[in-house]
Amino acid sequence: MDNPVVVVGGTGRVGRFIVQGLLERRESVRVIGRSAHRARRELAPGAVFRQADVRAPQTLGGALAGCSAVVYGVEPGTEQSGPDRPETTLCHGVRNVLKAATADGNRPHVVLISQLHATHQGHPLNAYGRLLSWRFAGEEALRESGLPYTVVRPGWLIDDRSAGHRVRLHQGDQGTGQVARRDVAEACLQALYTPAARGVTFEIFNEPGVPFPSWSEAYGSLAWDRTPVA
Ligand SMILES: NC(=O)c1ccc[n+]([C@@H]2O[C@H](COP(=O)([O-])OP(=O)(O)OC[C@H]3O[C@@H](n4cnc5c(N)ncnc54)[C@H](OP(=O)(O)O)[C@@H]3O)[C@@H](O)[C@H]2O)c1
Repeated sequence: MDNPVVVVGGTGRVGRFIVQGLLERRESVRVIGRSAHRARRELAPGAVFRQADVRAPQTLGGALAGCSAVVYGVEPGTEQSGPDRPETTLCHGVRNVLKAATADGNRPHVVLISQLHATHQGHPLNAYGRLLSWRFAGEEALRESGLPYTVVRPGWLIDDRSAGHRVRLHQGDQGTGQVARRDVAEACLQALYTPAARGVTFEIFNEPGVPFPSWSEAYGSLAWDRTPVA
């Protein structure tokens, strides 16, 4: 890509795989997170860390200026009120990042890590500060932004392959399952380089079987949310 890729939450467990993959592709990578200590401990050499909080727009500006793409993978708080309620990161944070990334007229591709059940407002998970409602609101903010985007809804994240080696992409927010963090990261990375991944929302799980041969085919089989964005 011509300009840096920004990974918001790039010091996290999924984010670190994304950063690694981008560096292997020789991309220029900026990582946003709150903890410089965590960045020192977790971040691969080569990525540039920018300390910022998605809940505080004034901290974001320079970190997102002029980027080619953004991946957003921020873990929400689960309080019912206050700064650690899900709304602050899952909705306001997404809006703040979109605003900062487009302030100079830039139009980066934005990949948002959301979650399975984002459309199921009656799900028990929504008892945690209306987590799912705010996930969906963040998704909608992105879908309505007019930017090229991809919304990835992982099932339950795990760190091993116990749910199987095959990746399954679904649409319609049905079913349930687990997925390896490494595979979610790969889906985000591949989305950045695959035109068919633009303008789609999908769930991702693992299942037993061999890995599928082609991400572009897998993305090509998905339905667009709306008219494709350029
Ligand atoms: N757990 C599941 O089963 C599950 C299922 C579906 C989707 N997801 C979602 O998948 C994504 C990746 O998960 P993960 O396991 O990789 O999460 P993680 O390891 O907890 O990493 C979260 C990242 O977000 C950053 N972050 C948190 N609050 C922030 C803020 N206010 N401003 C800027 N950065 C902030 C953290 O850095 P600092 O703490 O230094 O800020 C860290 O880099 C998350 O969005 C998660 O909610 C999880």
